Amino acid sequence: MGNKKTILSGIQATGNLTLGNYLGAIKNWIKMQDEYDCYYMIADLHSLTVRNDPEVLRKRALQVLAIYVAAGLDPDKNTIFLQSHVDAHVKLNWILNCYTYMGELNRMTQFKDKSAKHADNINSGLFTYPVLMAADILVYNADLVPVGEDQRQHLEITRDIAERFNSIYGETFVIPEAFIGEQGARIMGLQDPTAKMSKSATNLNDVIFLNDNPEDIRKKLKKAVTDSENCVHYDKENKPGVSNLMTIYGLLEEKTMQEIEKEFVGKGYGDFKSAVAEAIVKKLQPLQQKYCELLENPKELKTIYEKGAKKAADRADPIVKDVYQKVGLIVNE
Ligand code: TYM
Repeated sequence: MGNKKTILSGIQATGNLTLGNYLGAIKNWIKMQDEYDCYYMIADLHSLTVRNDPEVLRKRALQVLAIYVAAGLDPDKNTIFLQSHVDAHVKLNWILNCYTYMGELNRMTQFKDKSAKHADNINSGLFTYPVLMAADILVYNADLVPVGEDQRQHLEITRDIAERFNSIYGETFVIPEAFIGEQGARIMGLQDPTAKMSKSATNLNDVIFLNDNPEDIRKKLKKAVTDSENCVHYDKENKPGVSNLMTIYGLLEEKTMQEIEKEFVGKGYGDFKSAVAEAIVKKLQPLQQKYCELLENPKELKTIYEKGAKKAADRADPIVKDVYQKVGLIVNE
């Protein structure tokens, strides 16, 4: 791939993808596909840290793949694959586990949040989750990892693990950087704009799912929490609801916050909310149409993930071999 820098990112296959996943991650990926050598995976192994119905999980993995392509990731330009299809991830995961400290993992805020949510299933996979994520990234020697703000801490631990390994065994891993968009890195819930929009939200009005129909999108926007000022003005601290809607609108319509404020001078929240709803519908309708076509064509999806797994393994396997060699294993050629 010449001198192109390498990108890796992924999304878990648990739950339906949200507008937060799109604006925080996928939208940036699409912009990067011409300039970088991109690896985009469906993090199906990470999905096992919570309990799933096996059939549903298999279906969800394909749905995430279909969303990637429907959103505009070209399978000929990007390597798109399922994490579980490339053994190198789990091989490196084990090695990196032995170079990661319990104390570091104990500090992960997502572990704390997720253990609180799944108090009956605090498994060790949930605890060592960031190590598999580090393996995902380092096994491609990725330079950049485009993610939302909530993944920043996982990127930091990845860098720490890589630096530790390099300092013991010499230059092995590229130290990756997080690529976090200025806007949209943290899309908030529509009902609780102080918490991030999440696939696992219990209140469905809090979340726009990428497969929501126009009617639901309009209804959810109507119900979105704002404030009593009736003035479209960006102020994250004092007007979190309106500011979040402005962020969504700005990203979809490529407008700055000032431009949006100007557009809605003298207009109330009713007009503003319906404009945001229409912007979402306009973006999601073509995506959904392509998504449905792809799901009706499982052969095409299979071709994409098979080709992706092969390309990914070609890149990752030599890196794992190098690591095996360095830590003192006998490499079976
Ligand atoms: P996941 O599946 O929770 O989320 C996928 C991506 O979507 C972003 N995101 C958001 N961005 C803005 N606002 C939101 N409300 C919002 N919700 C989610 C996330 O930041 C993420 O970029 N651990 C990862 C998956 C993973 C991964 C990796 C990512 C596994 N291995 C290696 C990058 C590199 C996760 O659970 O993301």
